[in-house]
Amino acid sequence: MDSDAAHRIPRHIAIVMDGNGRWAERRRQPRSFGHREGQKAVRSAIEFCRRQGIQSLTLFAFSSENWKRPESEVGALMQLFMKALEREVDELHANGVRIHFVGDLSALSPELVQRMQAAMARTLGNAALRLNVAVNYGGRWDIVQAARATAQAALRGDLDPSAIDEASFARHVCLADQPPVDLFIRTGGEMRISNFLLWQIAYAELYFTEVLWPDVNADILGAALAEYAQRERRCGLTSAQVRAAN
Ligand code: IPE
Ligand code: IPE
Ligand code: MG
Repeated sequence: MDSDAAHRIPRHIAIVMDGNGRWAERRRQPRSFGHREGQKAVRSAIEFCRRQGIQSLTLFAFSSENWKRPESEVGALMQLFMKALEREVDELHANGVRIHFVGDLSALSPELVQRMQAAMARTLGNAALRLNVAVNYGGRWDIVQAARATAQAALRGDLDPSAIDEASFARHVCLADQPPVDLFIRTGGEMRISNFLLWQIAYAELYFTEVLWPDVNADILGAALAEYAQRERRCGLTSAQVRAAN
């Protein structure tokens, strides 16, 4: 690895935190036990990113498809989100973390949404790390809501439809105000996106690990970063062009 690559750090990491259920089932415990245990890995991922100087971390906590799970599991997850907001925000705030929730929050309980909004408002001025938590998020939903916002801007007369391009559309997609996703990580061994960020990962490096989310720690994330540093991000160029530019 050349020294330039060794120092290449992603600006924005997005993680599909998968494998909580299997982690619990292997221990003959209810799936909700795995979700609870997964919160420790969330804490260590946040701490890891802060230490590494990563600007943005986006975590997939609940997909638009996860409502199809048994009511008891969905209920346990919602309770966990409530409790986590109660318990974790003070420390995150003290550590300079700016919290942001992305997804269709209108389907969540008003109490939960109120806490999410309070956490976002309270941490708005923080700059150590941007933490985005995707709840009731779907990549297709995100693209559709951006299309709707773009259409509304055109209807208002703020945008000429023939002038709609990638840049004007991208402004309406979630996380538009943050650096592009450089590294997409999925734990739990599945090799799919599961309707997480779609638009945003067009040129992200993808990293998959068999490790189940509750077992994730700084070593596992360090291995992902080491692999990322070795990738050559050509973005359509030839390898010779990339080397010449560095
Ligand atoms: C990911 O773990 C957490 C959520 C989807 C909320 P899973 O619950 O999907 O765990 P597995 O994939 O069943 O092991
Ligand atoms: C993706 O994991 C959603 C989250 C991690 C929140 P799933 O476990 O729901 O994905 P599938 O069902 O295996 O595709
Ligand atoms: Mg899963």
